[in-house]
Amino acid sequence: MSRERIKIDLLIHDLKVPLAVIEAGLTSLLNRREKYGPITEKQEKVLRRALRNNKVIKTLVNDALELGKSRQGIINSSNFRISSLIEDALVEMFDLSYCNTSEEIKNCMDLEVLKNVLNKKGVLLVIDEGLWGQEVCLDGAKVRQILRNLLNNALKYRKECVELVVEKRNDCLAFSVRDDGEGIPSTYHEKIFQCYFQMDATENGCVRGHGLGLAGVMVLIEDMGGRLFLESDEGKGATFLVEVPLKDNP
Ligand SMILES: Nc1ncnc2c1ncn2[C@@H]1O[C@H](COP(=O)(O)OP(=O)(O)OP(=O)(O)O)[C@@H](O)[C@H]1O
Ligand SMILES: [Mg+2]
Repeated sequence: MSRERIKIDLLIHDLKVPLAVIEAGLTSLLNRREKYGPITEKQEKVLRRALRNNKVIKTLVNDALELGKSRQGIINSSNFRISSLIEDALVEMFDLSYCNTSEEIKNCMDLEVLKNVLNKKGVLLVIDEGLWGQEVCLDGAKVRQILRNLLNNALKYRKECVELVVEKRNDCLAFSVRDDGEGIPSTYHEKIFQCYFQMDATENGCVRGHGLGLAGVMVLIEDMGGRLFLESDEGKGATFLVEVPLKDNP
């Protein structure tokens, strides 16, 4: 790893401590009022918003470190229930945009309730009940990061709806993220995976994002020995299909 890269990763790493201190402080003010004193409803709202945003930064810091590990080829596989893997990815994703939905997801008792919560946001989750309860062995942090990026893009570029299909195929976990947006002409199918490339950057000059998400997704998938297929054309929406090989239980 280059000295420059180590310096950047160390800097990102060192953000973890102040973030943890902020989180602990805000949590204490909210949850230990007998010790820290009462707060008004308005103050509570402000504190909760600060806490949510702190969590978002924490996720992003962890993402950056995970990507660094991936560049070094480090994989951390462990056992996950598919349900918690998907739920966690959805919570982290909605934390970035619609925090009320992420709260609702956390409170879902079963798959049907979760599907209904997602439907209200135009997201269709397709997975069979049997698979939902199964355990798989993979690098959960990487898979969550991939899912979050693809779902984020789909939500950003959709017209109305997004579909997430999760399946088990041979020895892989396969998930596809489909949207009904403007789609991606085949001439751009490779370019969109390059760092900083954004199809619409030149058109309106004010696109959200940095053109880094998909480049990161590709690094993570390759390191897990997975594959990505893109099906899309102009005006026809986009489907990103990812296959991640499952490990034997450690
Ligand atoms: N679902 C999609 N539909 C249409 N275009 C897409 C879709 N996903 C990605 N793209 C195109 O690919 C480009 C690169 O995507 P990528 O996720 O790397 O960057 P971004 O979303 O623009 O920013 P970032 O992910 O860094 O916040 C996007 O700017 C967009 O032009
Ligand atoms: Mg993106």
